Amino acid sequence: MGRIRILPDQVANQIAAGEVVDRPASVVKELLENSLDAGANRIRVEVEAGGRRLIRIADDGHGMNRDDALLAFERHATSKLRTADDLLSIATLGFRGEALPSIASVARVTLETATGDEAAGTRLEIAGGKILHVDDAALPRGTTIAVGDLFFNTPARRKFLRAEATELAHVTALVTHYALAHPEKHFELLSATHTVVSAPPVTRTAERIYQIFGKDTLAQLLPVAAEIPLAHAGLPEPPPWKKDPDEPVRDPGNLRLTGFYSKPELQKLNRNSIYIFVNKRLIRDRLLMHAITEAYRNVIPPTSFPVVLLFLEMPPGEVDVNVHPAKTEVRFRQQSLIHDFVRDSLRTALIKARPAAGFLAALDNAPAASPSLMPPATSPLPGSPESEPFPPQPDSDPDAFQAVRRDAEPFELTPRLPAPVPGKLPFAANGFNPGGWGDRQAWGEAAAALFQPASLPPAGDCSPAAGDAAGTNPVAETALVEAEQAAANLNHLGSLRPLGQLRESFILATGEDGLWIIDQHVAHERVLFEKILRDRQIEKVQRQRLLMPMLVELKPWQMVVFARIAEELERNGFEVEPFGPQTLAVKAAPVGLEGTALERMLAEVIEQSSADSDEPKQNEDLAALRGRIAASIACHSAIKVNTPLDPVRMEWLLLELAKTSHPTSCPHGRPIALLYSWKEIQRAFHRI
Ligand SMILES: Nc1ncnc2c1ncn2[C@@H]1O[C@H](COP(=O)(O)OP(=O)(O)OP(=O)(O)O)[C@@H](O)[C@H]1O
Ligand SMILES: [Mg+2]
Repeated sequence: MGRIRILPDQVANQIAAGEVVDRPASVVKELLENSLDAGANRIRVEVEAGGRRLIRIADDGHGMNRDDALLAFERHATSKLRTADDLLSIATLGFRGEALPSIASVARVTLETATGDEAAGTRLEIAGGKILHVDDAALPRGTTIAVGDLFFNTPARRKFLRAEATELAHVTALVTHYALAHPEKHFELLSATHTVVSAPPVTRTAERIYQIFGKDTLAQLLPVAAEIPLAHAGLPEPPPWKKDPDEPVRDPGNLRLTGFYSKPELQKLNRNSIYIFVNKRLIRDRLLMHAITEAYRNVIPPTSFPVVLLFLEMPPGEVDVNVHPAKTEVRFRQQSLIHDFVRDSLRTALIKARPAAGFLAALDNAPAASPSLMPPATSPLPGSPESEPFPPQPDSDPDAFQAVRRDAEPFELTPRLPAPVPGKLPFAANGFNPGGWGDRQAWGEAAAALFQPASLPPAGDCSPAAGDAAGTNPVAETALVEAEQAAANLNHLGSLRPLGQLRESFILATGEDGLWIIDQHVAHERVLFEKILRDRQIEKVQRQRLLMPMLVELKPWQMVVFARIAEELERNGFEVEPFGPQTLAVKAAPVGLEGTALERMLAEVIEQSSADSDEPKQNEDLAALRGRIAASIACHSAIKVNTPLDPVRMEWLLLELAKTSHPTSCPHGRPIALLYSWKEIQRAFHRI
């Protein structure tokens, strides 16, 4: 007898479950996506014990008839796909026909579903992949799926589950982010003890952000929107001889980006605050992460990350979603086009908005970027490699650890969760109890009343505007308008009137908006940085010959780095020749750079460039190197602090700063100009 055997379905499903379901949040993700695919407008998620004991999701979608309900738990059973060709243009979140059988193989599941067209709905119980009961039941249109005792039959998996609060935090992050992608739908997340998320329908994403995170968060974010027509569809065209001449020319469609991005003053230590949705699917994607980082290059420090909510829409044929079992990764058919579109749209938005940093906000956001917008150890995607321990272990990176400790409090995108109190949902008498749920008394009344507005649970205190429908709530509306108007910008820098200097280091200036404080060194640094980059672009960098060549001693490894960047340095105005094995003779340098500043600048660039590996992406390295050289020259030749400036020079500096693309921050990411707004001043003096 041969050795090879076909695995029983049960085992195959458990293996598939290993890829799809690794924690309660991944169950919630699959069920939420199913509800959205079913066209639900209202989705209510309830969890007990962080989802380990119970996860229940109720939706008002199109439901299933009895046959479909039974089929749904079969492997590779899906209503979303028929032929292999359909795979090329998937418009639904699910398509693999794997989620329900996978979940059912590692938990006890009860499904209640009705289409509304038939006399009776269906109630189905299934445990460890085995169907226990199928009954008719009187149910409203929609589907409710309860998943209890997750991993009850796979103890090894169960062991990997984290504390209840952590699992709940993951679930919260997930629900929150799907709520962001669908402002027009009603989302609720309830734990046994309180309402964690309550987001009634609103018309705009800004309102949803306000609803979930509150006014302060909204005030730190700026909207972005861009759209381009695609020149051609991403799929390869059939060869001309195979083309049907009668076939109408297909419109390749548009590429659309909407979302929110943070002002440069708000910086994070990791990527956890960047959320990317492609056709409303939450994904992680290195390409787009890179595009976002590029957009913020030389606006925030290279070690910091912005907060970005990015919604990309494109024809389904432009993106392959079938690349990861948990559907959390995608592959774009026109990768570089999408990368550049995202980078350029964000950068243009930043240049246009030129958001001014408020004085008080800058104090709060001071250099130690807070660690993450997520609750402890959380990432929006199950098993995401981006998720980092919180707080970081002291031995891993002492500085980061200190920064986190110092700044652990402010600004969290996800509402902070109160400590979990052991308890059960009022309607599940004994935790998971498949038999008991047939009894409408036990939970059915609650479920029946689920979609009656009067049955809404009271809003929890952790959700700033929980329960507010921003569209109908005047307070929410006012806050929204205020937050949108509050974005003072730097467009009027050129018309400011300088009053004088503070300690010969900061320029004080007045304008319509209020009182401005401008850091003269970083302001000049930004002006020079952009000029150097421009001049370099057109090969017009001004150089000056030194009266005497300056000799610079380098260590052997520095000589190696120097050799690599010598050509770029030359194009930036340097004339350097070897003078012995470890000495360089600098004969000319960019205008404005001399003496020790010149020496320090060279050492700095060599030091920074030593980290560069021989990465394959040559162009990218070159752009980064140019940026570094320009930033370093600018920094070392800019006006220093403790330098007196006459009014003419101050005015000149403000005018020049106004002309730059990013007057918000210096190339290293420090703020340049802070505004004490007229409103803040009036408030501080109790005039309003
Ligand atoms: N909440 C729901 N409302 C209506 N139909 C549902 C719901 N959940 C699941 N279904 C039906 O059950 C089928 C199987 O669901 P399942 O999640 O296992 O697969 P899928 O969504 O098609 O693909 P994937 O495995 O990628 O999620 C779906 O195709 C859908 O027809
Ligand atoms: Mg699914």
